[in-house]
Amino acid sequence: MKSLRIYGVTLIMLFALGIVLLFFTKPYAHQVVSLFQYSPPPPPPPQTMVIGDKKGTATSVLLIKPNNFKVLDDIQRTLKTKLKFIHVIRNPFDNIATKLLRNLETREMARDKSFKANNSTLLDEIITHYFNHVESAQRLHQYGKYEVLDIYAHEVISKPQENLQKLCNFLEVTNDKDYIDASSKLLYSKPSLTRHSIVWTSEQKLRVTNEMKKYPFMRPYSFDKNY
Ligand SMILES: *[C@@H]1O[C@H](CO)[C@@H](O)[C@H](O)[C@H]1NC(C)=O
Ligand SMILES: *[C@@H]1O[C@H](CO)[C@@H](O)[C@H](O)[C@H]1NC(C)=O
Repeated sequence: MKSLRIYGVTLIMLFALGIVLLFFTKPYAHQVVSLFQYSPPPPPPPQTMVIGDKKGTATSVLLIKPNNFKVLDDIQRTLKTKLKFIHVIRNPFDNIATKLLRNLETREMARDKSFKANNSTLLDEIITHYFNHVESAQRLHQYGKYEVLDIYAHEVISKPQENLQKLCNFLEVTNDKDYIDASSKLLYSKPSLTRHSIVWTSEQKLRVTNEMKKYPFMRPYSFDKNY
């Protein structure tokens, strides 16, 4: 989990498939946005600028029910504010593998390169759940009422400045170059490829590959990519 801190308001981005829900008040000048464990100096007198829901997975689960979109509309109307979503995307094979490892409590073991978690039944279930969540994200894009920013985890790592800038633009906040630079330095140097720490059957690989094709935002990924 990574945290995005905007003057005292911390959003935790789930780097698993995540949808971060943001409620907006108005944009302010001279805000500093920093990512990933970086704490900015004490903010000026607190004014809530961004309220966020950090629960990426929970948001995805809620949005499996189309009726819950009405709730979003209610929130927007009640708060008289703009709802925006940050959709954090990672290679599905790694997302799924990480879930399996977490389920089996074998994440630590997975640090040993030769270790592979092997539970085909559980993996099948996780793949099903995973794509239900992906479908939510897709539905949110298609709903069209809200702005959704797709953020690719591997690009945040490979091009931090550009992506933090993109995030700031989306949030309508100005940023300070020093903070962007400092935040960039705190990023991992490369994505963690947990897909290699579990056993996939060829059917499972094919299934995920085929499911991915339904979603334009998954186009950059495949099993063999190094991100
Ligand atoms: C995974 O487990 C199955 C049995 O559950 C076994 O047949 C298979 O050989 C195992 N695969 C690996 C790579 O360990
Ligand atoms: C797979 O995981 C499930 C859930 O943790 C467990 O009930 C089952 O026994 C596991 N199967 C194997 C072959 O390890």
